[in-house]
Amino acid sequence: MSKLIIVSNRTPSKTPAAGGLAVALKKTLSARDGFWFGWSGNFSEQPSRSAKFETIDGLRVGSVDLTRADHKAYYAGFSNSILWPAFHLRLDLTDIQSHWYEGYRRVNAQFADALVEHIEPDDIIWVHDYHLIPLAAELRRRNIRNRIGFYLHIPFPTPDALHAIPHREELLDDLVKYDLVGFQAHRDVAAFNEFLAHEEMFLEAGGKPVTVELGDTQIDAFPIGSDPDAFAALAKSPNAQKMYKRVASAMNSRALVLGVDRLDYSKGLPQRIAAYEKLLENNATLRRTVHMLQIAPPSRDTIKEYQQISDELDSAVGRVIGRFAEPDWTPLTYVRRAYAQASLAGLYRLARVGLVTPLRDGMNLVAHEYVASQDPEDPGVLVLSRFAGAAEIFHDALLINPFDTDETAEAMRQALVMPLDERKRRWRNLMDAAMVHNVDDWAESFLQALASDSGTGSDLG
Ligand code: G6P
Repeated sequence: MSKLIIVSNRTPSKTPAAGGLAVALKKTLSARDGFWFGWSGNFSEQPSRSAKFETIDGLRVGSVDLTRADHKAYYAGFSNSILWPAFHLRLDLTDIQSHWYEGYRRVNAQFADALVEHIEPDDIIWVHDYHLIPLAAELRRRNIRNRIGFYLHIPFPTPDALHAIPHREELLDDLVKYDLVGFQAHRDVAAFNEFLAHEEMFLEAGGKPVTVELGDTQIDAFPIGSDPDAFAALAKSPNAQKMYKRVASAMNSRALVLGVDRLDYSKGLPQRIAAYEKLLENNATLRRTVHMLQIAPPSRDTIKEYQQISDELDSAVGRVIGRFAEPDWTPLTYVRRAYAQASLAGLYRLARVGLVTPLRDGMNLVAHEYVASQDPEDPGVLVLSRFAGAAEIFHDALLINPFDTDETAEAMRQALVMPLDERKRRWRNLMDAAMVHNVDDWAESFLQALASDSGTGSDLG
């Protein structure tokens, strides 16, 4: 029987971040035979080439230790200081150090070395995210002929942003060693096609293009989702209720405006605080009737750009509190720690306004989880960035441009004064969309597309 092998940098053994990859895939794997493979979270003097297996939450998880130097080059370096900012169109935040690419490739090769002996001919391999673009190429080099799929959880960049990435030719070559490449949104498929068209024009103009031979590689959008039924149930669970009651009593009938994000510059946090400031500035009567809670657990905090966004957020929060707080009312609470899913579900349910306003985002599962957690009789309103993949499916959110402070402030105001009827109507449509785009169907449709062999070309490279 064919197994499913999931590969990602983080495995379920690591503490899950708010939203993110680990939460989404657990169920699919537990329904099949197979294992999850990734970095162990530990360091060794020498890179380990054989996987250690353990059972975590009923899942078989294989992992390898990395050397500190390789991890730095592969994770903090090439993945998160070059690919992450460039794919999020923040070329100003890239830190290009060419030797990081070697570490990135070494870790991908190490993963392939450790994996080969565990792959049987009928197994299906599903690789996740930008840390592991070269993995299929490394496996092909080791004579693995299996179907291998790749899913990108972050947006695909514009052609010129792609040109800012060192070794882009090799990376694109590696990408088409997969049988199937899945993106979050149609926007990303369009960006990929635009890149191909761009290179074509470049060639016609006599330039030296990056040549990509697509071969039989299939490219498509597979928008990820959450498990809305499970989240709806979680939002009513004892632990969620505990958090709900605790915060509701502190709110003293004020409306809660909530944001939950990893502390990342792509999430638009200072812009969001500035929009809330504008809301308070323009609407004096609202001031004592609302309270904003921003939860932002630190992330990738060895990287300078993440330290800078953290400082920027501290100062934006301080500014708004200093400007508007009174002895018996504070406009804003900022919490820098992670909470269990159940506590978050309780907070989502309480929040009259859910703020999901990234500058650019693959999908954003917080948007899905916020929707799923609402009380159908008294639902909150989702204020959502047009630049999140989620905007392609949540048409009944209040869609905003996060760079436009006035527009975002106005959407917050609208959300706060929205009549119950309209809130219910919008929420029903949002919940229907969350149900249609659920995580189980997402995984099944990707795996079905991967299993259907429509050609032979690209697995011979
Ligand atoms: C995003 C990425 C994931 C990553 C997660 C948390 O969702 O697409 O691959 O796991 O952020 O980031 P971290 O660097 O802490 O794994």
